[in-house]
Amino acid sequence: WALHAPLIAEINALKIQRDAVILAHNYMTPEIFHGVGDFVGDSLALAKEAARSDAKVIVQAGVHFMAETSKILSPDKTVLIPDPLAGCSLASSITGADVRLIKQRYPGLPVVTYVNTTADVKAETDICCTSANAVQVVEWAAKAWGVDRVILIPDEYLARNVAAQTDVKIIAWKGACEVHERFTAADIADMRDAWPGAVVLAHPECPEDVLNAADFAGSTGAMNDYVMKNRPAQVVLITECSMASNIAGAAPEVKFIGPCNMCPYMKRITLEKIRDSLRDMTFEVTVPEDMAERARLAVQRMVDLPP
Ligand code: 13P
Ligand code: SF4
Repeated sequence: WALHAPLIAEINALKIQRDAVILAHNYMTPEIFHGVGDFVGDSLALAKEAARSDAKVIVQAGVHFMAETSKILSPDKTVLIPDPLAGCSLASSITGADVRLIKQRYPGLPVVTYVNTTADVKAETDICCTSANAVQVVEWAAKAWGVDRVILIPDEYLARNVAAQTDVKIIAWKGACEVHERFTAADIADMRDAWPGAVVLAHPECPEDVLNAADFAGSTGAMNDYVMKNRPAQVVLITECSMASNIAGAAPEVKFIGPCNMCPYMKRITLEKIRDSLRDMTFEVTVPEDMAERARLAVQRMVDLPP
């Protein structure tokens, strides 16, 4: 921390100068999450905060689709991403043109897309969801459209996971999160052998057999809430590595054990790049207004759903 202190001080001074707020995802490294994040949380919480914030500038300490979501919800603010190459394997698995083809194939069905998508995909969407509210959103869409089938794209594993929790039939796409897809049920079996009694929490972007082997599945925000509420003696977070590091301080009696995987996109965001971003006002994220307008409807519908 002593090493990070000068940069953290510089960033916090720049934030005041620029009237900026830093929205930091749960997968940011601890020096970002605890040192400079004004608001921290899962994708849903960050989207809600982007809509609510009255700062002039939003620095998205997260990946590009999150910054686009902030810009869609706050078109009058300047939205910056410290590294424009902070992408996402799910967001790059599908385009707006793909969604138009899916709609042609399944006319009349509502399109629910995961927020981990680009603005052109959101513009073809009826309502967005995150891993924290996917079941609720799918059921809302089926009811609002008066149908028993819903298109839920692009994460194949999330779609299967949702299908297991609702009577609504799901039409899926073959996208995957390259971080969560790598976990296996054997990882969990090995871990249970080594640490009998440990509680296993897994992210819904994991394959089906991993989720079946876990004790609980939920978004990064839901995992945090589970640990804070239940305080298990030993816990495994089947997700990105920074998640455990970020919440460990608030639960000192809980032992966090592996395995975890790193997201190479999230890890492109560093304190240095956040400082440069605020100092030079780079890299500005923009969305063409007609696209943003259509995408806003889909994101705002999600944000407006009751908790
Ligand atoms: P949540 O924070 O919504 O659980 O999403 C995790 C994720 O992979 C974001 O990139
Ligand atoms: Fe995308 Fe997965 Fe990285 Fe999240 S963890 S940004 S879903 S690749």
